[in-house]
Amino acid sequence: MAHSPTFYLILTLLLTCNLHASGCYTSIISFGDSLADTGNLKQLSINSHSGAPHFLFPPYGETFFHKPTGRCSNGRLIIDFIAESLGLPLIPPSQAINMTIDVTGLGQGVNYAVAGATALDPSFHRARGVYVKTNASLGVQLEWFKEMLSSISSTVLETKHLFTRSLVLVGEIGGNDYNHALEAGKSIDEVEGYVPFVIEAIVSVVNELIDLGAETLVIPGNLPIGCSATYLTLFYGSNKVQHDNATGCITQLNKFVEYHNELLKIELNKIRDVHPEVTIIYADYYNAAMQAFLSPYKYGFTNGALKACCGGGGPFNYNSSVACSEPLSTSCAEPDTYFNWDGLHLTEAAYRLIFKSLFEGSYTTPQFKSLCPTSRLQPVGGLSSSI
Ligand SMILES: *[C@@H]1O[C@H](CO)[C@@H](O)[C@H](O)[C@H]1NC(C)=O
Ligand SMILES: *[C@@H]1O[C@H](CO)[C@@H](O)[C@H](O)[C@H]1NC(C)=O
Ligand SMILES: *[C@@H]1O[C@H](CO)[C@@H](O)[C@H](O)[C@H]1NC(C)=O
Ligand SMILES: *[C@@H]1O[C@H](CO)[C@@H](O)[C@H](O)[C@H]1NC(C)=O
Repeated sequence: MAHSPTFYLILTLLLTCNLHASGCYTSIISFGDSLADTGNLKQLSINSHSGAPHFLFPPYGETFFHKPTGRCSNGRLIIDFIAESLGLPLIPPSQAINMTIDVTGLGQGVNYAVAGATALDPSFHRARGVYVKTNASLGVQLEWFKEMLSSISSTVLETKHLFTRSLVLVGEIGGNDYNHALEAGKSIDEVEGYVPFVIEAIVSVVNELIDLGAETLVIPGNLPIGCSATYLTLFYGSNKVQHDNATGCITQLNKFVEYHNELLKIELNKIRDVHPEVTIIYADYYNAAMQAFLSPYKYGFTNGALKACCGGGGPFNYNSSVACSEPLSTSCAEPDTYFNWDGLHLTEAAYRLIFKSLFEGSYTTPQFKSLCPTSRLQPVGGLSSSI
């Protein structure tokens, strides 16, 4: 029986609404460092029989999971809040478990982020005398992903199909290229020279993912590291740096991060020009976090945004020789009132603020909520179930 064009129009509208109502993205593919590691380094360190990292012990994980999971926080990370908001299960550490991926897709997500990972190949850092905590750099993570892809799909077309309705998160990554070097005593000026190389490493992975078929990618900039308890302690009392009066953050380090972010945005614009069909989303971690540094009370950080909840004491409760969870460290009673968790990493409350600002607010370009207006479309769900 033939149907009128109107029938097909209505059918299309209903199907489209149904698609949105069930969530815009049905899987997450993630690369990055400790900001997104849901347990990969945990498993890699168990396998390597090296000493267990300090974040595998309480109070890590105390807030939501009630046990350490390998996440560098008291609770959930930004990627966990993204998964929850899309109606997906939390994305497991994919290098850590023997993934049983259904052959029709990526499951509901894969996460290759590893705490300590750099954007650049570790050989770059070793050549400069800098010790790198893991060899699972961004390039290695991409190789893991490609291996997994080749095991589940044999043709280019099949691979491209896997990416349909996948949200690909590339980072945050690059922060450790600077952290490792600055902690090793390199000057800010010297480390600034790494920025173009770091950006190039990120951009090359983004381009490779697009060639594989990625359609929607989120690429975050770096956080304002000049506000982290680690650096506030490292440069404490130093006359080499200035502090911003409004926040107490180290001006030079934040300017340095802004330079990284500007360069990244310029390169992302170039990719947008070459691939207008791909959605490239810049995530402004810097300014999302800066809200808390400018007005900590407004966001519930009544113990301030600078001092770490968990650490080895001192003006910012950070001591590089006494890590959070070690016997001499102390942990705050109310982590939700702190922005900084352990010196470098943030509390669940901080990650929630950043997530909301990015994915429900205006801190992504283009705005994520305009691409994925799930809540606005959900009321039509009842209609589509009638067909
Ligand atoms: C992972 O799964 C594959 C396929 O089922 C199996 O052959 C392999 O032995 C498993 N590896 C581990 C480490 O369990
Ligand atoms: C990384 O690789 C280098 C060179 O192969 C090796 O010497 C080093 O031990 C590795 N580091 C880690 C943390 O596995
Ligand atoms: C910051 O405060 C210091 C001391 O109060 C003052 O001398 C300086 O001018 C202020 N800087 C800015 C940029 O407001
Ligand atoms: C850091 O902790 C160690 C070990 O308790 C202590 O000796 C050192 O004085 C502390 N450093 C600072 C800056 O408080």
